[in-house]
Amino acid sequence: MTFMPKSPQAGLDRILTLELVRVTERAAVAAARLRGRGDEKDADQAAVDAMRTELNCLPIQGTVVIGEGERDEAPMLYIGEEVGVGDGPEVDIALDPLEGTTICAKNLPNALAVIAIAERGSLLYAPDVYMEKIAVGPGYPEGIVDLDAPAAENIENLAKAKGVQPSDITACILDRPRHARLVEEVRATGAAIRLIGDGDVAGVIHTTDPEETGIDIYMGIGGAPEGVLAAAALRCIGGQMQGRLQLNTDEKVARAENMGITDPAKVYRMDEMARGDVLFAATGVTDGNLLAGVKFARESVQTHTIVMRSSSRTVREIKARHQDLDKF
Ligand code: FBP
Repeated sequence: MTFMPKSPQAGLDRILTLELVRVTERAAVAAARLRGRGDEKDADQAAVDAMRTELNCLPIQGTVVIGEGERDEAPMLYIGEEVGVGDGPEVDIALDPLEGTTICAKNLPNALAVIAIAERGSLLYAPDVYMEKIAVGPGYPEGIVDLDAPAAENIENLAKAKGVQPSDITACILDRPRHARLVEEVRATGAAIRLIGDGDVAGVIHTTDPEETGIDIYMGIGGAPEGVLAAAALRCIGGQMQGRLQLNTDEKVARAENMGITDPAKVYRMDEMARGDVLFAATGVTDGNLLAGVKFARESVQTHTIVMRSSSRTVREIKARHQDLDKF
């Protein structure tokens, strides 16, 4: 078979994949300088500033569709903000300069700087509400888990497909009172639960490598913006995910309608949350199961990033040593 290089024009520009790494690296380093200081806002602001500066160097006509909030509540990287140098492909951007602000403030595992880029109109424009989510990694038959099925049924089906007992399955769930019933139902199957304080983008991504992370399935309610980011990541690595917005007030229904969402009860499949050619990058801020956190040495700063593309399913890990300390 002859190897035919892909046209650089196929989908998004391939060069952007590596450009994205700089964006999450810069945000992660800025946040990491403030990790463990107990101040969520300062670390978040530093990450936002750094990510925005770097994004504005990219050769794109980008629109933030999942960002720091709506225009009146977030001065930077708000939904609708145009970023990039203003020529190049028209893209939609989902970002979270510091996913896990509390984790970073406490210097606990799995805080990330995260971004996804897709062709214009390819990402779900989700309001900043909660989303009920379920996700598993690659290698299972399509439909093995279902948001509408009871938790026990999902665990049992997954265990059967994996060829293990339910007691060999570990579910990752955000540690919140709203999950008391879900936790009870999962534990009743014999499955174990990894309760996480925050950071469900990492929680979902962890399902893609159970041998490394010990997590087979993500379940429960977290942020909708984080749901779209996680769906973008799974589109690139493989896996299955479903999400349903929690539009439980008239005000939330109206906000969603403004963003073009007409069925408040719709279950979104992964490829409805992130369609087409998607690029995704995440850099560790604090040490985690898949990514190391930023390391500060005397003359360099080290970062660990995962960057991937849905059309080729290439997953790259980039460990970088930065010696231009003025920049970092
Ligand atoms: P932040 O980075 O905005 O603090 O979000 C952290 C996070 O844990 C997300 O990963 C998750 O989706 C969401 O908060 C859950 O929201 P809540 O803390 O309200 O339960």
